[in-house]
Amino acid sequence: MDPQQMASPRTTHPPHSQRRCAVIAGIGSWLPLEVVTNDDLARTLDTTDEWIRTRTGIEQRHRAADGESTSDLAVQAAGRALESSGSDEVDALILATTTPDFLCPATAPEVAARLGLAGIAAFDVQAVCTGFIYALSAACGLIAAGTADRVLVIGSDVYSTILNPRDRATAVIFGDGAGAVVLRGGRSDEAGAVGPIVPGSDGNFRHLIAIPGGGARQRSLQMCRQPGDEYFSMSGSEVFRHAVQRMTEVSRRAMAAAGWENADVDRFAAHQANSRILDSVLDQLGLPSDRRLSNIAHVGNTSAASIPLLLDQCVADGRLKPGHKVLLAAFGGGLTWGATTVTWPDIAATAGPQ
Ligand code: UT7
Repeated sequence: MDPQQMASPRTTHPPHSQRRCAVIAGIGSWLPLEVVTNDDLARTLDTTDEWIRTRTGIEQRHRAADGESTSDLAVQAAGRALESSGSDEVDALILATTTPDFLCPATAPEVAARLGLAGIAAFDVQAVCTGFIYALSAACGLIAAGTADRVLVIGSDVYSTILNPRDRATAVIFGDGAGAVVLRGGRSDEAGAVGPIVPGSDGNFRHLIAIPGGGARQRSLQMCRQPGDEYFSMSGSEVFRHAVQRMTEVSRRAMAAAGWENADVDRFAAHQANSRILDSVLDQLGLPSDRRLSNIAHVGNTSAASIPLLLDQCVADGRLKPGHKVLLAAFGGGLTWGATTVTWPDIAATAGPQ
């Protein structure tokens, strides 16, 4: 991660305008074909379409087919982002995911190889729903340090493989999907330049979002202490409170680091966790509701894919236009959070199936 791109009150940096900067050069996304409606879920879970809509804003989500994995979605989204950037060449690939194809090795090298990019640097980032912002931060660091000139950043998650189908508190929220951007080296006063990135975490709250089994603490599923430890779990209402507080704080810090006032923000592209969370954050920031970009009704919470998928769909349907000043913010397990700013560049969307 580039220390100069992290906004820290304890360090002094050269003005952002003088630094080599990562610039967004392409965008793409992909959704698996199967659509699961709230009514579909209500056939097997003790829930209703009305509860899901009013408590989350979600109407449907996409689900990967049996055997369709994170790398499959990532390759589709990344191929479209490369096409949008006008070149197939990158020096590094960073994949943000909570659902790697395997615990070992990382999924990024396979994605790179399948894109015809074997040989480049490729690694995974695990910051749950904040993964895309963390991966963006790592990519900005590689570019600022001169290690890479073009970097592919992908968020891809297949939560349907880790959800407990009997847990109504999580099964209704998450959807599968992928989104990607291509970054190139450039100047910070160009459209598309990624502004100062403000990341954060607090591991004291790691238990609020977790898959307890399958890692080094409870290695085999036979060692799991509780039934269901192999599945993703979330303490919904506590996470809700943290999400509102942290996304509000980190958004303010990213705006301050970029020198933006509320009036500068044309679009707020936040991780699509829950429409009530997004409403609360907008309210606390004092931003009008028409600044909010949202696709949660149609895709649900797609974790690391959420922000690039949202951006790509909004470019495709005209809600996001060149010159718009966009505030990006995310929050997720860890706990982790992060935010940044970008003035949207003139690039083509290549959104997959909607
Ligand atoms: O993406 C990373 C971070 N994730 C988030 O930010 C998600 C944060 N949390 C949330 O979005 C919300 O907390 C949830 C959508 C998960 C839950 O909504 P809530 O308004 O916080 O509900 P709750 O957990 O306080 O539960 C309220 C009631 C409970 O029933 P009782 O105890 O009041 O009788 C739940 O059992 O709603 C019940 N409930 C449901 N009822 C119908 C929970 N899930 C469901 C469901 N259908 N799917």
